[in-house]
Amino acid sequence: MSFKIKNNVYWVGKIDWELRKFHGDEYSTHRGSTYNSYLIREEKNVLIDTVWMPFSKEFVKNLSKEIDLEKIDYIIANHAEIDHSGSLPELMERIPNTPIYCTANGVKSLKGHYHKDWNFKVVKTGDTLDLGNGKQLIFVEMRMLHWPDSMACYLTGDNILFSNDAFGQHYASEYMYNDLVDQDELFMECIKYYANILTPFSALVDKKIKEVLALNIPIDIIATSHGVIWRDNPTQIVEKYLSWANDYQENQITILYDTMWDGTKRMAEAITKGIREIDTNVNVKLYHIAKTDKNDLITEIFKSRIILVGSPTIGGGILSGVAEILEMIKGMRFKNKKAASFGCYGWSGESIKVIKEHLEKSGFSVINDGVRALWNPDDESLEKCVAFGREIANS
Ligand code: FEO
Repeated sequence: MSFKIKNNVYWVGKIDWELRKFHGDEYSTHRGSTYNSYLIREEKNVLIDTVWMPFSKEFVKNLSKEIDLEKIDYIIANHAEIDHSGSLPELMERIPNTPIYCTANGVKSLKGHYHKDWNFKVVKTGDTLDLGNGKQLIFVEMRMLHWPDSMACYLTGDNILFSNDAFGQHYASEYMYNDLVDQDELFMECIKYYANILTPFSALVDKKIKEVLALNIPIDIIATSHGVIWRDNPTQIVEKYLSWANDYQENQITILYDTMWDGTKRMAEAITKGIREIDTNVNVKLYHIAKTDKNDLITEIFKSRIILVGSPTIGGGILSGVAEILEMIKGMRFKNKKAASFGCYGWSGESIKVIKEHLEKSGFSVINDGVRALWNPDDESLEKCVAFGREIANS
């Protein structure tokens, strides 16, 4: 499958409806994904990125039906991660001398992955590549968005920004354009993608977007490397990114807990009651950590102004599922969020302290020392949880 995007620009990628896990098991892809590769056919023929390695034979076969591979003048590797570069080994077997344009870090990453000395051409921000017919590709380094090698490029004349991972989503759709798909699904996948992949780099996202906007270049299409192509009001996703990159939060308190015999769960419900007594506008959401997809949890935390994390004490510490989400939270470097801990215990009762320390190390402003309940909470303990909820709502 291929289709024309505009004039002489074609999509030649792969829609992966089956994908349910990405980055190993680290990212859930409930709606599949796409690996978008693009072919520009001007006086010079250019291939921008490829597709993930398992589809490399299919990709090269389909591409060779589109164009005599020998006629590809340039390959652009905007990003070395294997979901975009994974078909290069198969392709370069066929056209070993074709130049590959990438950043200096791109050469390191591509060599690191494939151990091949291909014909690399290093580019940096502002460098151009002439395609004939009055058109050029302009390169923009996107360092740490989200890898050191990440890069975007812009096609003059057609005003297409090939943004690679930025502005993408793990979202399979045969429609392939932002205006044709279900908008709720689309933006749900966009915010999940930002929350889970780009949050740690928010300061860089903000700086890079402002740098690109200052150039005042017309952008008619944003052709990402995952999910839909933005052709209807394409800068709407840029505006979303600016908002998400600036300590984004909604009026939401998220209560995340794991529980063994429902004691910590009952605490979560009592805390919710206390919050609701003070503030009926705030969106309080409760999630049983072990029963919820971890990337969906990160998305909910991203949207929150306060999170409360609960675990019973076990082995002098916390339940493993809680430890896992706390480890993920640490890597996200969330800003401008408050937090507190809670949990049941039978004898030693360290869980609230362990969670509090994790939250502090992860950059949260911790509201208090947390609340704990001995064994399964009685009415008095639950009343303490309600009071704790009121304090959270007032914080
Ligand atoms: Fe879609 Fe960073 O790879």
